Amino acid sequence: MALKFPIFMDAQSTTPVDPRVLDVMLPYFTERFGHPASRNHSFGWEAENAVDRAREQIASLIGARDPKEIIFTSGGTESINLALKGVAEMYREKGNHIVTTAIEQRAGLDVCKRLERQGFEVAYVPVGADGLIDVDLIRRAITDKTILISVMFANNEIGTIQDISSVGKLAKEKGILFHTDATQAVGKVPVNVEAMGVDLLSCTAHLIYGSKGVGALYVRRKGPRVRLAPMIDGGGHERGMRSGTLPVPLIVGFGRASEICREVMPEESARLAKMRDRLQDAILSSVDEAYLNGHPERRLPHNLNISFAYVEGESVLMGLNKESALASGSACTSATLEPSYVIAALGASTELAHSSIRFSLHRFTTGEEVEYVGRRTIEVVQRLREMSPLYELAKEGVDIKSIHWKAE
Ligand SMILES: Cc1ncc(COP(=O)(O)O)c(C=O)c1O
Repeated sequence: MALKFPIFMDAQSTTPVDPRVLDVMLPYFTERFGHPASRNHSFGWEAENAVDRAREQIASLIGARDPKEIIFTSGGTESINLALKGVAEMYREKGNHIVTTAIEQRAGLDVCKRLERQGFEVAYVPVGADGLIDVDLIRRAITDKTILISVMFANNEIGTIQDISSVGKLAKEKGILFHTDATQAVGKVPVNVEAMGVDLLSCTAHLIYGSKGVGALYVRRKGPRVRLAPMIDGGGHERGMRSGTLPVPLIVGFGRASEICREVMPEESARLAKMRDRLQDAILSSVDEAYLNGHPERRLPHNLNISFAYVEGESVLMGLNKESALASGSACTSATLEPSYVIAALGASTELAHSSIRFSLHRFTTGEEVEYVGRRTIEVVQRLREMSPLYELAKEGVDIKSIHWKAE
């Protein structure tokens, strides 16, 4: 089949809406436009039923016992805000300490920064060179004032999957609430809040082939019953935790998207991992001084993150961006040209953090696209290296770090 350009390989920033998802959404924009809180007519009942069905579909994807534990929000960012700020405000009397990791997505880190300004103390647990947290470091970071542990399920840049069950077990043992930002993991790998001891979980529709603008926060109702201070006050929707009229068409799509993910996950993740591995092998076997970022096995099936020494990630993207869409660092932070803090947290040099490229595959990625992007990436990196004096010096055996650069 002929390739269609540009090739989208940035599926950890967002995904296209699956046509099957769009199909079920459309009627809720037009003939089924009722308000789910309208209790006294059939338009309202129809909308409420549709929302409840979506709650069930999402609950089932993440292993929640009760669909009422799903609170709809505008997306992952809002869910994370509600979880962290909601716990901080509600449990402030109990303590003012939070444990999280250094590689959370910006939403998690920025909320923590704000809470610090409001008098909270936050421990940012570092990760190892493979991006995995050591659960023992979390244990040691806990104090008698800790009210919340927040650890992302899978990282948005390097795809590393954390040992969520062990963190959940630790949180239970200590009687501390546990939130996970599972925005990148839900729908891609098995997630089960009951089996993993998760009390709060953030996710979003647009990363699982649903629409942008809708997300969910799982809030445990039993063992323990988690209470949250709302961030948005109003009509008391969503059990008082998030007021505002629900975007029914988006929610219906989110539900269907979850249902499809649940059905196809084993086949899809195996297929994407196989293509991803082919891409990785093609690049690493042709380009010297190219390094895989993150854990080689414990990572999302559709993620590949590689640093190419002696070239800027941004330059590689510029060489490719007419024909393919990739990311350097995280799309959520690439408005700034700071090196990736996630790659830096692995202990990589600033140069290697600047030179990372993220390839992320999706449901509709084809083998031809993978083959093409791999070949073109190799060509662009090799061309940039031919123009790089640093690469030339390194090839001549000069230790780049020993060079003293003169300004004049
Ligand atoms: C790990 C992670 N958390 C949170 C978010 C924010 O989600 P949203 O875009 O739905 O606000 C993203 C976005 O890509 C993400 O990758």
